[in-house]
Amino acid sequence: MWKGRFKEEQSDLLKSYGASVHVDWQLYRQDIRGSIAHARALLEAGILTSEEFRQIEAGLLEIRAEIEAGKFEFSQDLEDVHMNIEAELTKRIGAAGAKLHTARSRNDQVALDFRLWLRDACEGLSGGIRSLQVSLVGLAERHKEAIIPGYTHLQRAQPVFFAHHLLAYIEMLDRDASRLADASTRMDACPLGSGAIAGSTILLNREAVARELGFSKVTTNSMDAVADRDFACEVLADIAILGMHISRLSEDVILWSSTEFGFIELSDRHTTGSSLMPQKKNPDIAELARGRTGRLYGNLMSLLTVMKGLPLTYNRDMQEDKEAVFDSVKSASETLAIFAEMFDAASLREDRALAAASDPLLLATDLADRLVEGGVPFRQAHEIVGGLVAVAQETKTPLHKLDATEFAAASPVLTPEIVKATFDLRAALAARGTTGAPSPENIQRELSRWREQLR
Ligand code: ARG
Repeated sequence: MWKGRFKEEQSDLLKSYGASVHVDWQLYRQDIRGSIAHARALLEAGILTSEEFRQIEAGLLEIRAEIEAGKFEFSQDLEDVHMNIEAELTKRIGAAGAKLHTARSRNDQVALDFRLWLRDACEGLSGGIRSLQVSLVGLAERHKEAIIPGYTHLQRAQPVFFAHHLLAYIEMLDRDASRLADASTRMDACPLGSGAIAGSTILLNREAVARELGFSKVTTNSMDAVADRDFACEVLADIAILGMHISRLSEDVILWSSTEFGFIELSDRHTTGSSLMPQKKNPDIAELARGRTGRLYGNLMSLLTVMKGLPLTYNRDMQEDKEAVFDSVKSASETLAIFAEMFDAASLREDRALAAASDPLLLATDLADRLVEGGVPFRQAHEIVGGLVAVAQETKTPLHKLDATEFAAASPVLTPEIVKATFDLRAALAARGTTGAPSPENIQRELSRWREQLR
């Protein structure tokens, strides 16, 4: 492609060291789409005849079909996907093929292909996120009345509906989808026409090319356009955060499926056994997802590090951008798909969850609230209830079973009626009616809202 100024054949080691086609062949659809749009601009500018354009388009579509059918042989000698396709086209149609690269560089070509690829990837990931959200809403709806203990510091804190816990993840996932949508909006500018660095003296209609490729605008600085990989960093960052959320969800699933918690039942299809211990049923999907999060973070770090010291504009270092991105997108998509399937087939062991949530200590704060309603300042109420908890612990008595005299001694507000009403678990949840809190009405409204939104 550039043999004019060289007298010697390239070293075999360099050929294999520099080749990226084993990774970037995946950009073939975007590359061909971009080349057809570019050829149309060359036609409009009078660089190509209609016949030449026709040959280029037909040739590229033929190559695409062959790649899709697995019949195309990519060659490492031709370095990357761009040169493989262009060389093959020229081999097939001759002179017209050799005109295709007019007013274009692989620098703006790869910037375009990568943006097109990532735009689709964002959409695919959003779809995967939606499916997982739907699956979580389904699980929540199957156990709408179920109560579990909510935790802080992994210590039992306050009772919540199981649905409330799942809805928290649905919120997180929604932010993930919205971050990807933002990234997609920001990458919505066509870099083609930026050339190697400074555009071209052959003036093409960049706006028409952008329109054909589904971009709403063109990039406005040719140097930025070929040097920029922000869009890839952003998607990797968004995926890293998504991975962090899925990893936290994994951790909950892993804890919940232990004998100690015993809250969640995963299906046989989504668990593994042990080759040694016959009794084992392991939550491997969640563990693998938690583990893969390391790669998602690593990929982000890898690209940020590749980019950090590069002078403007394109540098060959940037060829290292694709593997990290392809890996993160693939890994996250797979995780989303398998998680949706796993939760579709999972169920809550409501009896176990209820037994744990029935720990009266979970309602110690509610008891303090009753004192507040009786005029006791909260700090004092906190101390009074703390004292009752200490007595309960010393006498090994459940908090709500303490003698009426203990409650009365602690405060005249704590009559037997008040105490009894406070330790009614369902009533305690019904009382949590502020926006965002887990009253049954709020949970129902949130479930309906998400059902509607995810339709
Ligand atoms: N394979 C290259 C990459 O992905 C394409 C751009 C190469 N440009 C160049 N001037 N060598 O970065």
